[in-house]
Amino acid sequence: MLVAPSILSADFGKLAEDVKAVCDGGCDLVHVDVMDGHFVPNLTIGPVVVEAVAKAATKPLDIHLMVENNPFFVELFAPLKPGYISFHIEEEKNPHRLIQRIRELGIKPAIVLNPHTPPEAIEFLIEDLDMVLLMSVNPGFGGQKFIPSVIEKAKRLKKLIEKRNPDCLIEVDGGVNDVNVRELADAGVDVVVAGSFVYKHPKGVKEAIESLRVGSEDFS
Ligand code: DX5
Ligand code: ZN
Repeated sequence: MLVAPSILSADFGKLAEDVKAVCDGGCDLVHVDVMDGHFVPNLTIGPVVVEAVAKAATKPLDIHLMVENNPFFVELFAPLKPGYISFHIEEEKNPHRLIQRIRELGIKPAIVLNPHTPPEAIEFLIEDLDMVLLMSVNPGFGGQKFIPSVIEKAKRLKKLIEKRNPDCLIEVDGGVNDVNVRELADAGVDVVVAGSFVYKHPKGVKEAIESLRVGSEDFS
């Protein structure tokens, strides 16, 4: 399992230090939650702060857009050269066009599905994607309870991926811990996002990341 700590649960008073800690702790991606106060009832960070995160990080950024105007935000964050940019299918009228644009910018495109959205909604986009992100909470806040139906959804998505683009990764975001990560791994999930579990772990971020690395694999 690949691990992408969400910096939403970091201490923003010492953000660079907290970003370095998860990179030194062996994470694979640094998950960055961008919220605009419209698509979700919360507001987080923009390019000025994400630039500081990019400077501190020694692992690729995984930018998760929770915004209304996806094309605008893609252009805004592209100069920071993140590894991935993901956007919500529920908020995009021309997802295929935006996927092409993200790839043209040299970034891996990913699509996010809210808890109610079936995997079939993106069946004909899978061959153009590098990753699909399944929300296992309602987007907007860290520290929420895991929604178990994501397990069945991941299994269904895995079948579509095997048929259409076996290289496409499945990522799950929200309420992930060292217990439900096992079920996620069995369902075919490749990457877990974890915010509060990593940053509030009593033994520190390194041990937290290691405890999520079930059925480990290489990442390049
Ligand atoms: C929620 C965000 C998540 C959040 C996860 O909208 O997309 O990335 O930070 O936090 P935890 O792991 O605490 O649920
Ligand atoms: Zn996220």
